Amino acid sequence: MKILSLFSGCGGLDQGFLQAGYHITWANDFDKYAVETYKANFGDNIVLQDINKVNLNELPEFDMIIGGFPCQPFSIMGEEKGFEDARGTLFFKIAEIIKYKIDQNEKPKVVVLENVRSLKTHDKGRTFKTIKRILEKDLQYKVFTDVLNSADYGVPQTRNRTYIVCFDNQNVEFEFPEKQELNLTLQDLLEENVEEKYFLSDKIIPTILSNGTGGYNAKSEIDLKIARPLCATMAKMHRACQDNYVTQGNRIRRLTPRECARLQGFSDDFVIPVSDTQAYKQFGNAVTVNVSYAVATQIKNTLENLGEWQND
Ligand SMILES: C[S@@+](CC[C@H](N)C(=O)[O-])C[C@H]1O[C@@H](n2cnc3c(N)ncnc32)[C@H](O)[C@@H]1O
Repeated sequence: MKILSLFSGCGGLDQGFLQAGYHITWANDFDKYAVETYKANFGDNIVLQDINKVNLNELPEFDMIIGGFPCQPFSIMGEEKGFEDARGTLFFKIAEIIKYKIDQNEKPKVVVLENVRSLKTHDKGRTFKTIKRILEKDLQYKVFTDVLNSADYGVPQTRNRTYIVCFDNQNVEFEFPEKQELNLTLQDLLEENVEEKYFLSDKIIPTILSNGTGGYNAKSEIDLKIARPLCATMAKMHRACQDNYVTQGNRIRRLTPRECARLQGFSDDFVIPVSDTQAYKQFGNAVTVNVSYAVATQIKNTLENLGEWQND
């Protein structure tokens, strides 16, 4: 199965599909550091460009589209003009690519989209409603949606994300992958010899251990067994109650980029060629590889049952 990957980042979503036996023929991101990481691990099939500037007639042949698109409100909401309601958003770009392929008689068989958990309630539910209407009515897909937690797929991180899986075949019955038992804790993923720069200074420790900042009252816990969701801004600031901290030899430290990679299901041979700041951002943005793999495998099984799976 040939895949077009949009908003590919460092390739978490892509990695899961590759492991499940798919091919990524073309990937895209406009962040040069994300593209650097992607290239170091997957090769030169990624194009560094704003997706809005890509010519649709230059896209290669593909059977499926996958992408975790940034969530934006739609501007002319409520008017229900159909396809045009989402114009100007990155979701619209995905829809436009699909529409273009439909007009070429090359409709993608499957579309897989990933987003934050709150996509369903974003802009009072209107964002999701518009997305679903465009996928079902304008593009004629059968759409399945669920919120999956990374901790249910083998990694010790609470990370709830919305997955939207769309099939061209209207007769398909798709089930999201079953939950798995978690046999690992965050402590199992920690590195042993960690550089001094990851340890917190005495000055910052009271902030980390305080009960919230800016009037926000919650208990700041460190050494959680299941990590809080990794966040793209982790390198920039210390936020009590929101980031992950661990103790090592009686001292408190933040997670290293390698530990963040592990918490997102990347194996240790995944090359990290960029600065810590960029690495935290990329792993904080990524889809957990285990979840992607589980979803990709379930789609593969579904396509095999339909006789639509293609080995290429
Ligand atoms: C949430 S991240 C995707 C992470 C990826 N799915 C993964 O699993 O690693 C979204 C990505 O979209 C990219 N992006 C945002 N707007 C874009 C645009 N207009 N053109 C191309 N890429 C864009 C960002 O640079 C970012 O890497």
